[in-house]
Amino acid sequence: RPGSQASSAFGLKFDRPSQRGTHRRGGDRQPASTAYAGKRKHGAAADQHPSSTSSDDDDRCFEPGPPGLLPDGMRGPDLPPMQPTYRFGDPSLPVSRYRRQILYLVENHATTIILGETGSGKTTQVPQFLFEAGWAENGFSIAITQPRRVAATTVATRVAEEMGCDLGTTVGYAVRFDNALTAGRTRIKYLTDGVLLREMLDDPLLSSYSVIIVDEAHERSLATDMLLGLLKKIQRRRPDLRLIISSATLEAAKLRDFFDGGTVSAAAAKRRAAAAAAAAAAAAAGSLPPPPPDPNRTPAVVTVEGRTHPVQVHYLETPAPNYVHAAVESAVSIHCEDLPGDILIFLTGQEEIQAAVGLLEEHARRLAGSRGYSLKLLPLPLYAGLPGAQQQAVFRSTPRGYRKVVAATNIAETSLTIEGVVYVVDCCFVKQRCYNPLSGLESLLVAPISKASAAQRAGRAGRMRAGHCFRLCTEGDFANQLPEVTVPEMQRSNLVSMVLQLKALGIDNVMQFEWLAPPPAEALVRALEELHALKVLDEDARLTPDVGLALAALPLEPGLGAVLLASRELGCCEEVLTLVALMGLHHVWAPAQGAVHALEEAKAKFATAEGDGVTLLNVHKAWRSNGRSAAWAQRHFLNQHALLRADDARDQLLGLMRRHGLLPADKPPPSCEQDMESVCRALAAGRFMNAAVFERIEYNPLAPEGDKGTPVFRLVRYTAQRTNPIKLRIHNSSVLWRSMPSCVVYNTVQQADNGWYEMQGVTAVRPEWLVELAPHMFHKPGPM
Ligand code: CDP
Ligand code: MG
Repeated sequence: RPGSQASSAFGLKFDRPSQRGTHRRGGDRQPASTAYAGKRKHGAAADQHPSSTSSDDDDRCFEPGPPGLLPDGMRGPDLPPMQPTYRFGDPSLPVSRYRRQILYLVENHATTIILGETGSGKTTQVPQFLFEAGWAENGFSIAITQPRRVAATTVATRVAEEMGCDLGTTVGYAVRFDNALTAGRTRIKYLTDGVLLREMLDDPLLSSYSVIIVDEAHERSLATDMLLGLLKKIQRRRPDLRLIISSATLEAAKLRDFFDGGTVSAAAAKRRAAAAAAAAAAAAAGSLPPPPPDPNRTPAVVTVEGRTHPVQVHYLETPAPNYVHAAVESAVSIHCEDLPGDILIFLTGQEEIQAAVGLLEEHARRLAGSRGYSLKLLPLPLYAGLPGAQQQAVFRSTPRGYRKVVAATNIAETSLTIEGVVYVVDCCFVKQRCYNPLSGLESLLVAPISKASAAQRAGRAGRMRAGHCFRLCTEGDFANQLPEVTVPEMQRSNLVSMVLQLKALGIDNVMQFEWLAPPPAEALVRALEELHALKVLDEDARLTPDVGLALAALPLEPGLGAVLLASRELGCCEEVLTLVALMGLHHVWAPAQGAVHALEEAKAKFATAEGDGVTLLNVHKAWRSNGRSAAWAQRHFLNQHALLRADDARDQLLGLMRRHGLLPADKPPPSCEQDMESVCRALAAGRFMNAAVFERIEYNPLAPEGDKGTPVFRLVRYTAQRTNPIKLRIHNSSVLWRSMPSCVVYNTVQQADNGWYEMQGVTAVRPEWLVELAPHMFHKPGPM
């Protein structure tokens, strides 16, 4: 069989030997050979939801129902008779069996916690249940928050399809700088947790929503954690509001305790009894009763048990030097076994995914030429920067005669479920934010995933039938190097944006805020210092009326917002609006497989000595003067989708600035025409916290001859501490790579595995500008 040659042809060996000869085509049988005998089996369900099988836990979580109910406590007599058939939703999904239960609990509890297997239908179905039960009537809507924008947009698309409406009508979404909504008409609204936080600035009690579903709470994104605390506050003022917290892991106790409103007073119990009687009367009259005015403030917990099949986990015998190659080789080996089932590969980011998809396409072409395989490989990417249509493509069912191989980021771990996956290849890494409060440096780092994440990823293989998960590390490394659980984002982030938002919402004492888990005190102190340096906060740590309120109104990280504010006086608002919009996107360049050199040439055409900011402006200008043509963008290795999005973002920012009186509404924003120095000055004015000075050249004794060494930079605010160990260099994606400007400001930092911090989005500035523009921070030119 072709498969046998193929799996040995690739140098990759798993210590759970490959399925050669053990599975029959189309069969679901356990291996006949002893290859797997005695090997541990990971039941995906048990792996992920240890207590989902324990009914004890459920009993504890449910509050006993009124007398006369079935033992599961779920048939409320005060519920109106349900229609026997439901118009909306997919009844085949596990969550559909809990429909009545969920509706009953939501009706009677201020907070309901839904725990359940990924893919059981929590995100797509629950809002439809609520819609049909009347929770989106009388001008109210239902909000569902997502930590990731791709999840918000794709899930909204799916639900609109299921409900048979156009996206942006009854079902819509709102993510930063993009939305599909109709005011007054959208009833089910998927939005990122960050966007809901912004909505609170205009409507602090979120009064347009009857139900808010905080989805993917297990992810513990920074914005979700903030939301939980704020929603708890809102709940006290809005007894009619219902919260649903949905999570893929069973950390219910903590959430339940957090939202527990304490025992109900006698008066409230009386009110509730009266409401139940009224509801029963309404039900008898055939109309829908209003929700009880005083819901039970102890959260209800419901566990949705999904279907999962066992997933067998395989580890490498020896570590793989390059996990992208190893992932591609594993996928091809699996494919060559010629058994049915799609493959899902977890990688850390766009570059890796593009590289993997490119390699897989080569293999697909090669294999298509050889006979003996019943299926053709169909490689597909899935990551945040992908245009919407391509994101949707991974959800379409695999065409006959093909095997889908989806290379995805962490987004496929719990946010999105791809049907038909039987094999998971997991690189066991993730790109993560991390923050060092000592240096104040926030960076992106490719770090090992947690064991909890790995279990989730493996579980993705067991949805259809028994599956396999191939982890690209050794079993020993897995056991010893991976942390048990992922550290919540709040514990590893720069908290500047968070503190600014809380202050804007009137929460002055950030330390005393009710947190599910409080942020580290040093990080909070640092954030306050930084906001003070940006003049967002005054001496008493209150928002300043000019800078503070303005920055809170802009959906930008405060440093970038400060660049925009500074551009007004510097007369380059027109340019900086575009620049800020472009900088918010990570992938303006679209490297094509095997065209690294061509991409470098294309970049060089637009490159300027000022750095990446001005280069981006040149790119945008050239694209505009070529009629925003997609063909032109493709020829120059530019991401058309990203450029269009930047235009939208720019328009929205301009609109916001006008609305908040930061720019006059009747005039175009001031432009500096050709004078790019003002643009660089604006960057220096907002980004001075990210200023670094050139220090020396570091030579690598092992580098090939002719290597000019690496220019080392040092953070300006830390030059006083000569012992500061942080070494910065310019990332090779920057047009200033290998050059030695005396002083730069950067947009973001990424940690390389060899200890370097690499600056991205770099602009050369003059040290004296820093003194001029931020005299409160810098007293004399150059290193201090
Ligand atoms: O939220 P949960 O993980 O419980 O499940 P879900 O996201 O609601 O997914 C339910 C089903 O919808 C899964 O079978 C997904 O594959 C499917 N789905 C889809 O086909 N396309 C989407 N854009 C989103 C979900
Ligand atoms: Mg979900």
